[in-house]
Amino acid sequence: MEKIKVLVTDPLEEKGIEILKNAGFKVDEVGKQSPEKLAEIIKDYDVLIVRSGTKVPKEVIEKGEKLKIIGRAGVGLDNIDVEAATLAGIVVMNAPEGNTISAAEHTIALMMALARNIPSANNSVKEGKWERKKFMGTELYGKTLGIIGLGRIGKRVAEIGKGLGMKIVAYDPYISEEVIRNMGVAVVNLEGVLKQADFLTFHIPLNDETYHLIGDREFEMMKDGVFIINCARGGIIDEESLLRYIKKGKVKGAALDVFEKEPPEKNLLLQLDQVIATPHLGASTKEAQMNVAQQLAQQIVDALQKRIVKNAVNLPALDEKSLEYIRGYLSLGEKIGIFLRQLIDGEIKEIVLEYSGEIINYDLSLVRANVIVGLFSEEENVNLVNAPLIVKEKGIKLREIRKEKADEFTNLITVEVKNSKKVSVSGTLIREEPRIVKIDGFSVEAVPKGYLLICYNEDKPGIMGHIGTVLGKRGINIASMTLGRKKKGGPAITVLNLDQGIDKEVINKIEEFPAIHSVRLVRI
Ligand code: NAD
Ligand code: MLT
Repeated sequence: MEKIKVLVTDPLEEKGIEILKNAGFKVDEVGKQSPEKLAEIIKDYDVLIVRSGTKVPKEVIEKGEKLKIIGRAGVGLDNIDVEAATLAGIVVMNAPEGNTISAAEHTIALMMALARNIPSANNSVKEGKWERKKFMGTELYGKTLGIIGLGRIGKRVAEIGKGLGMKIVAYDPYISEEVIRNMGVAVVNLEGVLKQADFLTFHIPLNDETYHLIGDREFEMMKDGVFIINCARGGIIDEESLLRYIKKGKVKGAALDVFEKEPPEKNLLLQLDQVIATPHLGASTKEAQMNVAQQLAQQIVDALQKRIVKNAVNLPALDEKSLEYIRGYLSLGEKIGIFLRQLIDGEIKEIVLEYSGEIINYDLSLVRANVIVGLFSEEENVNLVNAPLIVKEKGIKLREIRKEKADEFTNLITVEVKNSKKVSVSGTLIREEPRIVKIDGFSVEAVPKGYLLICYNEDKPGIMGHIGTVLGKRGINIASMTLGRKKKGGPAITVLNLDQGIDKEVINKIEEFPAIHSVRLVRI
């Protein structure tokens, strides 16, 4: 078997490299590459590992013929086109917890450095001066710390801030007010944080929603003499606007670890005494780098060798308990999809998924993705990552229905696909094994494995005899058989599990019997 090839284009702690190599992967550490160069070399690799330095745009992703995982050793994903990766079916994963403490501590270090003028005072002393009056500082105790974004880093900053005797106000529309209050933090809206903060710090991702979140309008709302700390991403604060408001004196000082363009080169902010700056050092501690490298490398090995996927940002995240409950239904969903696709011809226009029973109490997004993978695996490069996008791209209508009662079953999954025709298949788990229990509303019990012969017929004598004779003459063994009818003498269905496949000639022969309308061979 060919070795998994991993390309590493930003510095990754040795421990991470070791984990990948010990798993039998071939690792190439080539240093930072331009998108053009990366697009040239990516085609041979199964995995790409980056930090914030390497940009991974659509043009690179499209050339990643073998690419399965893009791993980010850290949190921010603004350097990766996650949407393009999702469409290409590539898992994008990060290592989000590893640098939380370091980024929070760097934020606090910057806040203290700002409050006590430490960088300028340090330079002054080293220049032989003794300017005690010039560097009069500000206490943090009793001041209001405004936090935008109360995720992992924001929360840790809030904890330390409280320990310093600061009052914490925060804005995070994606976290419930109750959770925020339980952290001992006052809940306010964005305007409220801007108006109340003496120190204002940002811990949000950079995306379309947060780009230039802070500009002239927002600076106008702030207290005179506010201190700004940005240890999240350049681009969240409009740098030209910040420059203006520092010059006006409205902003007393700003500490920046991140810039819109990195390195910032001739950024005018760097010429101001009121600005202190570090070169994107939030996660630059031995501990954080060790954590993220180790965590990401292990996640990649687990995903490729054990199919356990953690911290993937473009796959539904399920807790252990839910995963345990729905595990069997994932494979059932895929089998129903494969089964159905062979019962309907032409493009599918609509999919209706009906879940019934206890299962409705769980997150079923992965079951849905598995059904889609089953339906389209023959015709598309489809996997669990891009399944939802593939359906959207094809313009297929998808509806989901949840019902408490599942007839005589604990749980039942029914998938109906439509174009000018309509076919439906229901499945459940019986003794933890997938079973097809309905086809177009006819009750059956078939094992979705190997070759299945589906005969649409009338409920008349002689059907089984005829099929048995045709197959027997050719030495084809029937492993099991099930019949379904709604009423005596009416339309019916016959499903046989065969030990081997049959060709068109055999199907035609079976169809010769007058009471058999059509026959399909399904392979799973
Ligand atoms: P996180 O996902 O745990 O937290 C981000 C929080 O921001 C979430 O709670 C989210 O609800 C909130 N949020 C999103 N949009 C918002 C908005 N418009 N307004 C208010 N809140 C919003 O991430 P984290 O681990 O805390 O990291 C935060 C960011 O810090 C990362 O995205 C990364 O860009 C940056 N970071 C920088 C460094 C560094 O070296 N300077 C290190 C680590 C992380
Ligand atoms: C991150 O988002 O994790 C940080 O920017 C840290 C880094 O990449 O070094």
